[in-house]
Amino acid sequence: MPTRNVAVLVGSLRRDSINRKLANALCKLAPPELNLQIVEIGDLPLYNQDLDANPPEPWRKFKDRIQAADAVLFVTPEYNRSVPGVLKNAIDVASRPYGHSAWNGKPGAVVTASPGNIGGFGANHHLRQMMVFLNVPMLQQPETYIGGADKLFDAQGELANDSTCSFLQNFMQTYAQWVERNAPR
Ligand SMILES: Cc1cc2nc3c(=O)[nH]c(=O)nc-3n(C[C@H](O)[C@H](O)[C@H](O)COP(=O)(O)O)c2cc1C
Repeated sequence: MPTRNVAVLVGSLRRDSINRKLANALCKLAPPELNLQIVEIGDLPLYNQDLDANPPEPWRKFKDRIQAADAVLFVTPEYNRSVPGVLKNAIDVASRPYGHSAWNGKPGAVVTASPGNIGGFGANHHLRQMMVFLNVPMLQQPETYIGGADKLFDAQGELANDSTCSFLQNFMQTYAQWVERNAPR
């Protein structure tokens, strides 16, 4: 299989973010045919439609990174039962101007993680709703809600739970097949 470049978006800007640790773990667990790169979203000015005609430099660079990727993987916490504003902003930025969305047709997947029991279920499904409109075919199974996620990492930030590790490895292998099946030719 050819190598596919996957843009990874992390929905938390927190220094000690569980979701960033998880994204780093997913980069390591990915099969060789997937090349995962985290694309930073913290410096994107807030979306404002007035700027569509002359977008700020960080918007341009971000959109170029998404456009160049073969696929997208979202790794995010849940804020108030939905997607954190910083991630929603990034999704909006790369979706415009209307008719020129960078997301269009790229195979996607979402992983949500929380210290709570339901593992960011609300954010996971709100994100899926956006992806329907943006024409991003999202991996359905395995659904990936990681609860109790604050207990899964060691002091060095490495994933230190065998069953989560093998679950996520299987998730990445299934995602690789999904990307290959759905990547634009
Ligand atoms: C504004 C805010 C809203 C939150 N809302 C939720 C929520 O709806 N569900 C949930 O499970 N955790 C919620 N949390 C707790 C986060 O899951 C927790 O802070 C988690 O560590 C954030 O992810 P991170 O470690 O990757 O930054 C919220 C946290 C913040 C700061």
